[in-house]
Amino acid sequence: MSSLVLAVKILLEQTLSIIVCPLCRSELKLDVRKWKKEHIWIGTLICKKCRNSYPIIKGIPNLKPLNIEKTLMGNEYTRVEKYYDHYTSVHDLNYHNPELYYMRRVEDRVILSTKPKGVVVDIGCGTGRQTILLASMNCKVYAVDISRKMLEILRRRVYNLELQDNIEFIQASADYLPFQREVFERAYSIFGAFNHAPNYKEGFNRLGEILRKGGKTVISVLNQYRLTWWLYSIVTFKTRWVKKALKSKQTYLRHKAGRRKYRAWTHLYTPKEIKQLLKTAGFEKVHIGSILIFFKPEFRYNPQTELKGVKSLLGKIEDRVRWIPPFNGLGTYLVVLAQK
Ligand SMILES: C[S@@+](CC[C@H](N)C(=O)[O-])C[C@H]1O[C@@H](n2cnc3c(N)ncnc32)[C@H](O)[C@@H]1O
Repeated sequence: MSSLVLAVKILLEQTLSIIVCPLCRSELKLDVRKWKKEHIWIGTLICKKCRNSYPIIKGIPNLKPLNIEKTLMGNEYTRVEKYYDHYTSVHDLNYHNPELYYMRRVEDRVILSTKPKGVVVDIGCGTGRQTILLASMNCKVYAVDISRKMLEILRRRVYNLELQDNIEFIQASADYLPFQREVFERAYSIFGAFNHAPNYKEGFNRLGEILRKGGKTVISVLNQYRLTWWLYSIVTFKTRWVKKALKSKQTYLRHKAGRRKYRAWTHLYTPKEIKQLLKTAGFEKVHIGSILIFFKPEFRYNPQTELKGVKSLLGKIEDRVRWIPPFNGLGTYLVVLAQK
């Protein structure tokens, strides 16, 4: 056997020993149809127990729970996927502004506080901000996203940076993570993937299961009680919004691309709820913080990336009160740091 084939075989066995069927969580059998250089380009993964099959398309396995997509709630997975597939074109542009850069710096600090190491998973990796950070710190990263387009962009980026050996790309949903138990040292899910996971309770339980004892996670999600949004809705007399938000935690994010409109099912969390979900999932220590407490995020391009004037001062105040009640429950995003 040539060294190339041997190298590929080892890589495949490693990956296959970690991923499982997202539905029944049994082992998968690999059927390769086409190789591209040393990579599997087209193939199928078949569950040895429930016989569901999952395609490998252009080198990326699609491990979304395909049967569930055919149910009523299942449509929401397809909509979330389409929403983010179309969002790829503006993803990085919309986040290029002082407010989001401030948020990014906070997220990075929280991630680094967990001392990333070993095998880690990045859930809702998007175009790869955290995946690239983690891979460049020599972690072996499983980059998971529901959007194939996001994964394809990330893969291109990663090859340009020559980080591909540290990263595996998997299309899957945050609530049906297709991994064996206790394989990861760390799990990160930054900027909302868990907001768009209809079966989020199961998702958090699985998150607890796939982490090793002592493993740490950092999650950031949209908060139901985001101070600036509530104030904005009240002063602009958008009382309809307020009533709706008080009634239900479920809403939709909306995005328009040309004439087409997309919407993504969204569950807004409260600090108490997310703490409870993580405790139930087996996390012993759970710390809740907030990001963007005193100013609203902008989702549009601005060449500037530094907060100025009053906002800069508010950012400094926020840095001091982020983890302290009641401020830790008032930000646009909740940032959660937990250990199993
Ligand atoms: C706002 S982006 C953030 C991406 C990246 N983590 C970052 O901070 O730049 C949210 C990402 O979560 C992904 N996502 C949304 N719902 C998901 C789900 N149910 N499972 C996995 N990924 C999901 C989207 O496709 C998108 O790439």
